Amino acid sequence: MFLLSILIMALLIIVILSFMLGFSHPLPWIVISVLATIGIIHDKLLKRKQLIWQDSMATGIALIDHDHKRLVMLINMFQEATEFNISARKVQLALDEVIQYTKYHFNREEQLMALNQYPGLKDHQLQHQQMIQEMELYMQEYRSDPDVAIEHILQFLQSWLMDHIKGNDRQYIPYLTITSLDNDAELHKPRIDDAKPL
Ligand SMILES: [Fe+2]
Repeated sequence: MFLLSILIMALLIIVILSFMLGFSHPLPWIVISVLATIGIIHDKLLKRKQLIWQDSMATGIALIDHDHKRLVMLINMFQEATEFNISARKVQLALDEVIQYTKYHFNREEQLMALNQYPGLKDHQLQHQQMIQEMELYMQEYRSDPDVAIEHILQFLQSWLMDHIKGNDRQYIPYLTITSLDNDAELHKPRIDDAKPL
């Protein structure tokens, strides 16, 4: 990524300098075409590493699907922040947002399961807790060696979310006949305060 940034900077300088040859000279336009091609290829490569929401991942429960889609989006935003690595602060903010929303979503999912007396609630809660504990370990690594940890965190988040949505989250679908938390003000209240960054 660093080398790519240097290359783009160099090409931009060439564009500026070559315009001194006149707007009718082909050189600046050729370099601009190269820059545009690099941008398109880079964008395609970036998207190939991202999570893609598929209809087969839907649970059919609007609240859950909304949260899962948002998590996919937030993890992709974290991935973009790490790819461009403009500032450590932006990477940290993107990661904080993933963690906060994950905790918020776990809380909502567990409330729905409890409301429906889902028999697998305890096991499912345990899976959520184990995920948060694993993230805490990754965050320790992040504090001591962010460059290495970022790659580990990204891989963990991507694979965990996909496996969980396609696996364990499908088990509660037949049990969740009450699919909204709207009828209970306390349940509906966002628990973002429970979801401080690790
Ligand atoms: Fe879950």
